Amino acid sequence: MPSLTGTRSTRDALLGVYAPPNEMFVSGEGSWLVEESGRRFLDFTAGIAVNALGYDAPVIRRAVEEALATGMIHTSNLFRTEPAEALAAELVEHTFPGRVFFCNSGAEAGEATFKFARRWAGGGAKHEIVAFRGSFHGRLFGTLAATDRPAYRAPFEPVMPGVRWAEVGDIESVRAVVDRATTAAVVIEPVQGEGGIRPVPDDFLRALRALCDEHEVALIFDEIQCGFGRTGDLFAFESSGVTPDMLSLAKPIAGGFPMGAVVLAPHVADTIAPGDHATTFGGGPLVAHVARAVLRTVAAPAFLDGVRERAARLDAALHELVAAGVGATTVRGRGLMKGVVLNRPAAPVVAAARDEELLVCGAGPDVVRLLPPLNVELAEIDEGIARLQRALEASS
Ligand SMILES: Cc1ncc(COP(=O)(O)O)c(C=O)c1O
Repeated sequence: MPSLTGTRSTRDALLGVYAPPNEMFVSGEGSWLVEESGRRFLDFTAGIAVNALGYDAPVIRRAVEEALATGMIHTSNLFRTEPAEALAAELVEHTFPGRVFFCNSGAEAGEATFKFARRWAGGGAKHEIVAFRGSFHGRLFGTLAATDRPAYRAPFEPVMPGVRWAEVGDIESVRAVVDRATTAAVVIEPVQGEGGIRPVPDDFLRALRALCDEHEVALIFDEIQCGFGRTGDLFAFESSGVTPDMLSLAKPIAGGFPMGAVVLAPHVADTIAPGDHATTFGGGPLVAHVARAVLRTVAAPAFLDGVRERAARLDAALHELVAAGVGATTVRGRGLMKGVVLNRPAAPVVAAARDEELLVCGAGPDVVRLLPPLNVELAEIDEGIARLQRALEASS
């Protein structure tokens, strides 16, 4: 295989918006990333919830080859192609009746939901978005405005105006900022990700649905991180029995290729006309064909059973980790989306885990986030948590 490796001296060619550690990865297989030296790292970040099927998944390789065989990587949305239409139809089957808009990332999907909500709301005064403390929806001007990280926003103000804030679990705090005349939408992650892996109670989602109906406000679920099998259900909102007006998706949906999507219920979709929104790359034939293969894999009942079985194993291992008294105090999350709450900052533990050849990331200052691939092996779960325990011991 030809070397795709740069050298350490090329690091400065990339804009410094990230500060990655020194390891330089050159290949991946299953749940493992391989460094140029040959060191193998167990990857419990899965590309931040993107690599749902792990590295080098045969399903994805096959889908890429099939798509390449057509010769059409991209055509633009000026023309019809079969993969985008077929994928949209299958997404609708698995979510709720409506239509799908494809784009290229989570933030782009989030921005689209805000535009669609305003279009549906009729414009003018009814343009406000209600977001929640602890939320993360992206880094563009609209999604950043609705993201509860004031420090991320401060250097770039003014961001999108008209965002009001409420507390998860406190419906009165939502009622206090929702107004039929001014609110276009309420946006929530059914499991908050970046904000510390915090599942939102189903009864709160139901209360939000009722409040949004009462005030003719669109309800948007952001399942960019928690969706697509991560919780053990295909979508995290399913257990609530609530149907949102829009659902935003991205990260895992094309198995590692960049793709975002918004599913719009018919009453919202019907307000959108040609020219209202666009994106050159959205839903191109290659990425859409791959996404269809990923969707078919992840949506299979036996696959979701497998996610739940793995999640149970992870729960058991994390229960023991907490009992071991090495600084892990509690565990939050659903399925294979877990936050280990520490009695100290997470960053040194993330670094110590890397010394143990385990890749994890943080979710807030004192939470280690675990997002293994959805097909992680049971033995890899045990191995990963053993490595995390050693990292906690080493960094205490
Ligand atoms: C819930 C949620 N929404 C939106 C985003 C933004 O996605 P992207 O980084 O693809 O723009 C993220 C990214 O972490 C996310 O976790």
